Amino acid sequence: MKADLIVGIQWGDEGKGKIVDLLAQKYDVVARYQGGHNAGHTIIVNGKKIALHLIPSGILNPDAINIIGNGVVVSPEALIKEMKQFGNLKGKLFVSDKAHMILAHHVLKDLAKEKLLGKKAIGTTGRGIGPVYSKKIERSGYRLGELRDVKKLTDSLMEYFEINHELYKILDIKLPTYQELITQLEVYRDELLEYLTDTTELIWNKLASNSRVLLEGAQGTLLDIDHGTYPFVTSSSTISAGACTGLGLSPKDIGNVTGIVKAYCTRVGNGPFPTEDLTPTGDLLCKQGHEFGTTTGRRRRCGWFDAVACKFASRINGCDSLALMKLDVLDGFKKVKICVAYEYNGKKITKLPFDLENVKPIYEELDGWDNSKKIREFDKLPLNAKKYIKKIEELVDTRISLISTSPEREDTIIR
Ligand code: GDP
Ligand code: IMO
Ligand code: MG
Repeated sequence: MKADLIVGIQWGDEGKGKIVDLLAQKYDVVARYQGGHNAGHTIIVNGKKIALHLIPSGILNPDAINIIGNGVVVSPEALIKEMKQFGNLKGKLFVSDKAHMILAHHVLKDLAKEKLLGKKAIGTTGRGIGPVYSKKIERSGYRLGELRDVKKLTDSLMEYFEINHELYKILDIKLPTYQELITQLEVYRDELLEYLTDTTELIWNKLASNSRVLLEGAQGTLLDIDHGTYPFVTSSSTISAGACTGLGLSPKDIGNVTGIVKAYCTRVGNGPFPTEDLTPTGDLLCKQGHEFGTTTGRRRRCGWFDAVACKFASRINGCDSLALMKLDVLDGFKKVKICVAYEYNGKKITKLPFDLENVKPIYEELDGWDNSKKIREFDKLPLNAKKYIKKIEELVDTRISLISTSPEREDTIIR
């Protein structure tokens, strides 16, 4: 059996949580492969809102098991807190012992670095993501499996603090004492040890026994460390290929890939955003879409659908189809715009250049519509909404297999 995958196509917050939760009802295993608690995936069931940061969005399916893979960076603090709302998760949640650990000093370093950067700040979520992935690549990180010997781990961390104390002094970061650290790590060990396992072997066994496996991406393609709008990106491989390294799968293990994309565009944090609308229309998109971050509560920057970026994202992820989210948010707009090309150095281009901050969007304007909210059948959508969907399919050269018309599970059109 192959594993199916869902991946964000824009700058995150496309609505991955809703789709994974919806699809999870048909899967036996849901696995996260990258990112950390910088992610905020919202699920709304029967009017009740649940925000997930680290636990895969399959957790609400009573029959599915959930995996946090080796490619995820895990804050034990955040994970323990998130787990508490679900009661005993033994047998339902499995965490890779190879996943790198986010500790308090990483969070402080993230915040201090952003402060130092001033106007050039990335606008991170301040969760310690960058510092931990840096340590991993530098080959001096700490993995969850090291909680099995807390004394050894504490000694190693204290040695690291000792060697680097000057840096932490400059950054005005207070480091823990030996006793504080060991006490903290013992709590993490006691709470998490029974969930730690070799998740690669687990997922291989599940695939071998024909279990249905769904891989849940976090963030979005344009935040990918290699292919996003560097340096205004996150620190992981957010694209579908990241699922291979982040779980220990081979490319041959990946089956159907669904790209999750909003009917318009948003971005939290800094960096280029060609279709950003800085007029009151952008404010209206924000208001109608409730575009405030699930993780940090920050206002999301809003703008129009970017077909150039979406086509790139569809190709790089190998999308079989797209799920078009939040179509209802465009209800009531007289005209809706789609970016069909960029103007770059006086020329019209249809690819993402090295310096995306230097492009100007070229728009095509379509007539707007009303009353798409909560529609559950394609044929019942307003005619102009259907034209909009068909236009996107044409421009992006990818089929739209699913359309979402409200945050609720049931308000979804499957084609
Ligand atoms: P994720 O990070 O990709 O999982 O997305 P977020 O959960 O951060 O942000 C998406 C937001 O849009 C959440 O508040 C969802 O409840 C909401 N949402 C998802 N689908 C729809 C939809 O079709 N219509 C509307 N109005 N809201 C939606
Ligand atoms: P989900 O999974 C939207 C953004 C931050 C910042 C940049 C780097 O909910 O779609 P980081 O803390 O990762 O070092 O910040 O990435 N970012 C997200 N934006 N949705 C997310 O996750 C994000 N995770 C990180 O705002 O611009
Ligand atoms: Mg989110």
